[in-house]
Amino acid sequence: MSEIMADQFQMKIVWSSLRPLVAGRSYLLCYGKERLLFNVTAIKFLKDEKTGSQLSAKKIDNGNVGVVNISLAKPIQFCDGVKEKYDVLDLKNHQIVGEGFLDFPLYRATNIRWQQLSIDKNARANQKSQIPKCIWFTGLSGSGKSTIANLLERKLFDRGLHTYLLDGDNLRHGLNRDLGFTEADRAENIRRVAEVAKLMVDAGLVVIASFISPYQSERQMARLLFADGEFVEIFVDTPIEECEKRDVKGLYAKARRGDLKNFTGIDSAYERPEYPELILDTCVFSAEECVEKVFDFLSH
Ligand code: ADX
Repeated sequence: MSEIMADQFQMKIVWSSLRPLVAGRSYLLCYGKERLLFNVTAIKFLKDEKTGSQLSAKKIDNGNVGVVNISLAKPIQFCDGVKEKYDVLDLKNHQIVGEGFLDFPLYRATNIRWQQLSIDKNARANQKSQIPKCIWFTGLSGSGKSTIANLLERKLFDRGLHTYLLDGDNLRHGLNRDLGFTEADRAENIRRVAEVAKLMVDAGLVVIASFISPYQSERQMARLLFADGEFVEIFVDTPIEECEKRDVKGLYAKARRGDLKNFTGIDSAYERPEYPELILDTCVFSAEECVEKVFDFLSH
């Protein structure tokens, strides 16, 4: 029996939630007394329990057994030859959604070390005389996120802050051009964006992110990447009727005609944030007034 520390594993998983497991999504692993964040980096296959055959799959449904690759937020000890069972919890409500059995550490996980750099986040932030932050706008398509985010960046920039704006439509032209709008693709979209935002915050920047980010799980995952107080979630709360009336990009009309599938608010879910730092009601306040509210929040 050998013991090894690793943060990436192949894991067998028995799924027991009505909400399917999707690759790119993060969950919690109950490891002793700890609850460790992990991301499903790939679904390797589904196991047909009757025949034992392996089926390719994009999700694991309730009652199914699959084999996945996972990446943990920190390394854990793995004992070869011991088949322990771990509870898997949903990130948004901490309910048990499955049982996991670690098969083996991935070879790649044992060969990459974290490189300690001599200039750190504090040094980079001090050089810019600012407190790095990730200001995360979520809301329906057409809710006004990007307009407000854009005006906010202008205001912060004009006051001498070092900023960067990450926007859904723009990132989908480059880094995320391979992703569509299924639940799994949106989870992967937000995972990548959150990791990029984290690097930028580490670079000392004030990062503004503007994404529909419709699922609580991914918004929670993004929050957990940052230090306390560094992540500010802002819900641009515009009712769908209003977004549809504005329909700046003509996408609602397209979705209603059936020419655009998986459109948020129509045939794809939007989960309202439960505890955002700020809610902006764009039916009551203008974009400029919303920016003032964000600015006031950040200044206190
Ligand atoms: S997210 O759901 O994965 O967070 P993201 O913010 O990157 O979405 O991209 C949303 C933008 O893509 C929308 O503003 C809209 O212009 C465009 N889009 C194209 N198809 C869809 C769709 N099916 N659902 C939502 N937005 C879509």
